[in-house]
Amino acid sequence: MNLRNFKLLFLTFAMISLVAACQNKQREKEDFIKGNVKFATAQTDIMLQVVGEPTGNNYPRTMKRNGELAVTSMYDWTPGFFPGSLWYLYELTGETKWRDMAEKWTTSLEPLKTFTGHHDLGFMMYCSYGNAERLDPKPEYKEILIESANSLSSRFSEKTQTIKSWNYRKNWNDTTEWFYPVIIDNMMNLEMLFYASKVSGDKKYYDIAVKHSESTLKNHFRKDFSTYHVVDYDTITGNVLDQATCQGFSDNSTWSRGQAWAIYGFTMVYRETKDPKFLDAAIKATEMYLKNLPEDMVPLWDFNAGEAGYAAEGKSYAVEFPGKELRDASAAAIVCSALFELSGYANKPEYLDYAIKMLYSLASPAYRAPLGENAGFLLMHSVGSIPHKSEIDKPLVYADYYFLEALIRYRNMNSQNNTLYQD
Ligand code: GLY
Repeated sequence: MNLRNFKLLFLTFAMISLVAACQNKQREKEDFIKGNVKFATAQTDIMLQVVGEPTGNNYPRTMKRNGELAVTSMYDWTPGFFPGSLWYLYELTGETKWRDMAEKWTTSLEPLKTFTGHHDLGFMMYCSYGNAERLDPKPEYKEILIESANSLSSRFSEKTQTIKSWNYRKNWNDTTEWFYPVIIDNMMNLEMLFYASKVSGDKKYYDIAVKHSESTLKNHFRKDFSTYHVVDYDTITGNVLDQATCQGFSDNSTWSRGQAWAIYGFTMVYRETKDPKFLDAAIKATEMYLKNLPEDMVPLWDFNAGEAGYAAEGKSYAVEFPGKELRDASAAAIVCSALFELSGYANKPEYLDYAIKMLYSLASPAYRAPLGENAGFLLMHSVGSIPHKSEIDKPLVYADYYFLEALIRYRNMNSQNNTLYQD
């Protein structure tokens, strides 16, 4: 064989190997998604049998100590996630059974459109009605979402340039009163405001969302782009009065889910505004988060719990709780989903690799529940709030919601692949 023929043969062989490797990778990905969808639908079927019809008081949230499903009323902050997960199962399978179930659970939340008791209306209505509008639009959904955006906007103050998250409360020491507490989580509620401006043509919701994001950028980040959970504002001057925690270990520590909300929130605000300062914030918050991850990519519930220089205080259960090492799968799921999106905006190809690693880690037996266990939830090992002695090392409905969203983003990656995964 002469040299030219040898080179040709070698190139052909290399090409064939490359194509085969790509096909194997694609097959592995398809199998991974298919397996997870099969599990998620079977597990959710089990939950639906237990939970029955929506009553206004039975939105799945977590698991009791005895292994039973724990539910909340619609006025808690999480009722939108279960309908949202049902919409995602419809998006993954195309089966009308999931659409009908999602519609039923979504429309049960309509009374919330006038709710103004706290800031979480975005989570409550956009995860439910927002997905409904995206996947099976109906004229009344738009109206309900615009009315919900109005209700949320009623908590905005021109003085503080933010939406008030919670009403009056005190810190863990009872030494500081918060009259205008804003939490980093609030970034997530803004997506509904951007939507409302687009469909109503009224820019006021957009303006509120941007002002809130700018204030958060200024007051919620430390120099290293870790986040404070709570910032309290003076309602008369608009000045910052306190930077503290409510669900993290200490005021100066970084609560990992708070950091996750910041990463997801600023990624979403960049998508809606294209303002590079928000992209920069999302990237810097991500860099800080990635630096603090253990090998399996699921963070500790707080990056600094138990470290020298960090002290839980007052009535917080974190004072006596020894579990520094507990993980929060919900934070991992939120960041996993966010990085699938952020990798498309940032010049950081490694973010996509991280997102895929996070997804595989969450889907491994270390975090994904065995079928029929975990009160019908998909993921184990999340933390609601250690300071409140609540939902410690438990499943959480929002962990499952962002896990399914990440699965969809993985499926759709690169290819606009909308393969439906049915049995
Ligand atoms: N938004 C409340 C939480 O993340 O626990």
